[in-house]
Amino acid sequence: MPKVTYIQPDGAEITLDARDGDSVMETAVKNGVRGIVAECGGACACATCHVFVDEAFAATVGEPGDLEDDMLDGAASDRQPTSRLSCQIKMSADLDGLVVRIAPEQV
Ligand code: FES
Repeated sequence: MPKVTYIQPDGAEITLDARDGDSVMETAVKNGVRGIVAECGGACACATCHVFVDEAFAATVGEPGDLEDDMLDGAASDRQPTSRLSCQIKMSADLDGLVVRIAPEQV
């Protein structure tokens, strides 16, 4: 199972085993990680699952699609170069060890 680490705005960290194919958002919600609101349930329609991907994984995770890119422009926290919506990142062996920082404001 690929591992994913979430870092809170206050620096608290948690590392979880993700199911292959689950999104970074789903993994967080299933495990009660605070700060991932996910109002739309993963439909790329709310931007309340905003994370900043660690630079080391930015290339592997890749760029947001057009819809996600538009949603990120309206996210509550200003976007950064590695901003992604965590519902659009599917976990896989390639992403084992992924680190994401949770955006300080989600709504
Ligand atoms: S959960 Fe709504 S955009 Fe990700």
